[in-house]
Amino acid sequence: MGLSAGWLEAPVECGSAAGFGLYLHVPFCHHRCGYCDFATAAVGDDDPAEVEVLLDRYLAALRADLVRQVGAGSWPALTSVFIGGGTPTLLGGVRLAALLAAVGEHLEVADDVEVTVEANPETVGPELLAALADAGVTRLSMGAQSLAGHVLTTLERGHGPDRPAQAVAEARAAGIAEVSLDLIYGTPGERDADWLATLAGVAALPVDHLSAYALTVHANTPFGREVAAGRMPAPDDDVQRERFEAARTVLGAAGFEAYEVANFARATRRVGPEGVAAPARSRHNLLYWRHGDYLGVGVGAHGHHAGRRWWSTRSTSAYLAAVEAGDRPVTGEEHLDDSERALERLLLGLRVREGLHPGDLPPIDPLALEDAVTAGLVEIACGRLRCTDDGWFLLDEAVDRLTA
Ligand SMILES: C[S@@+](CC[C@H](N)C(=O)[O-])C[C@H]1O[C@@H](n2cnc3c(N)ncnc32)[C@H](O)[C@@H]1O
Ligand code: SF4
Repeated sequence: MGLSAGWLEAPVECGSAAGFGLYLHVPFCHHRCGYCDFATAAVGDDDPAEVEVLLDRYLAALRADLVRQVGAGSWPALTSVFIGGGTPTLLGGVRLAALLAAVGEHLEVADDVEVTVEANPETVGPELLAALADAGVTRLSMGAQSLAGHVLTTLERGHGPDRPAQAVAEARAAGIAEVSLDLIYGTPGERDADWLATLAGVAALPVDHLSAYALTVHANTPFGREVAAGRMPAPDDDVQRERFEAARTVLGAAGFEAYEVANFARATRRVGPEGVAAPARSRHNLLYWRHGDYLGVGVGAHGHHAGRRWWSTRSTSAYLAAVEAGDRPVTGEEHLDDSERALERLLLGLRVREGLHPGDLPPIDPLALEDAVTAGLVEIACGRLRCTDDGWFLLDEAVDRLTA
């Protein structure tokens, strides 16, 4: 496939050509859901006054960490900002606006920057959403997980099945341009009918984007311990695949494009260069899948620039102590060599439906390519290398064959 040397220096869509992003992590939630192993801690039962002090301290640390990282390099204009968690909306509108103002003070920002904030549906309301819209937030991503009450109970969610729809309506009324919901499928006790009703329910809402994740059971979580003790069944691979197929069918019929293994976008508000509505894909997540560059600020945040990757401590107390002492809160750093970057670019690029442009592909042995195509794992479509539907489920095997 016209695989040229020099692919790292002259990327077409990957690497520096993918844009430049900023991830800011907020490691607090009301309650820690039993399945979640994100870098976050529950503060819902803590003294509210102490929580306010902690949030102020954390905001100051985020600012200081941002300023230090920005000062350590020279950066292009930001094309996306993603405030993730945890539950960033626990910071409240005033702190989130101050955080975004600090970003604008210290980094150049593209005119059409995408600014996403993650939220739990029960942590937002009209006032907060209006404050976010005023502060420049263009995209709200909320965890709905399921519209079946008993599944939400198993997942230990703090909201009922009706709350996501109300929160979507509130976000729309507040003028947030794009709204996304996260779903989880394959939860113990979830029936086919629960998942189908959830899909039909969210597709009927005025949302632009959906993420649908197979439940992952992490060993270090309450779910992991329940499964290990035999008190909770492990998710069934066949059921997970059926649920994924159902998502593609139902959401596809409702106008959603499956643009990544777990992500669906609908052509709604975003207008493309030709003046037609374009699917509201997550620009920030596309940056990750295109192996682009981004700064990562906050507890457990990862950054990536030209093959160098670094990440901060997952401990909030260690993070605060390091930043407040003027130290880097970084606990790990690595430099990827060309072959590691090639492997990563393939793995990430094949997650996306559009696959990879030939100019972004590392050299691939023609026999290895033929083998992966014959095995039905990848295909060449419109001159691009992409996974087939089967290949999406066997991504590691596809990459193994391509790099053999
Ligand atoms: C940071 S949370 C989203 C915002 C907010 N904290 C919430 O939960 O509503 C990111 C998303 O990751 C997904 N997620 C987290 N842990 C998961 C797991 N073990 N398996 C599958 N999806 C998971 C959930 O869909 C969740 O909404
Ligand atoms: S899923 Fe969301 S609300 Fe639940 S613990 Fe994880 S980050 Fe917090």
